[in-house]
Amino acid sequence: MNGTITLTIIKPDAVENGNTGNIIAAIQAAGYSIKAMKMIHMNEREAGGFYDVHRERPFFNDLVSFMTSGPCVPMVLEKADGNAVASFRELIGATNPANAAEGTIRKRFAESIERNAVHGSDSDENALREASYFFSNLEMVG
Ligand code: CMP
Repeated sequence: MNGTITLTIIKPDAVENGNTGNIIAAIQAAGYSIKAMKMIHMNEREAGGFYDVHRERPFFNDLVSFMTSGPCVPMVLEKADGNAVASFRELIGATNPANAAEGTIRKRFAESIERNAVHGSDSDENALREASYFFSNLEMVG
């Protein structure tokens, strides 16, 4: 890989609403290349492991229950120029779509702070950890 990476998940609300293709198109139009992608339906242990840092938060159980409610699409994204993590968080907008800027992915496709269409890593370190949570080296293209 030449650029920096981030990990995103198209969440169950967006998959269920038929927005997977629209979100992938928006991501690619913004200059990211897809290094890995698959559709999975997580169980409680898998979703809880991904969101382990939030285990003590009041919203943890609801979050796990939502993330296991249907299939989702994790992807590793690479950006050739700039910082993938920071620029992707700008592209998706605020966690709560009510606060997300016009034109961002969450403004366009999210319903609420929980059903917020997409996840984006919050640091380079977490991007690597999250990418390897879902994908082996074999599943990531160079
Ligand atoms: P995400 O970026 O995937 O990381 C943690 C998720 O917890 C977040 O998106 C939200 O979907 C979800 N969440 C639910 N309630 C809250 C809350 N009150 N504050 C922050 N995140 C929340």
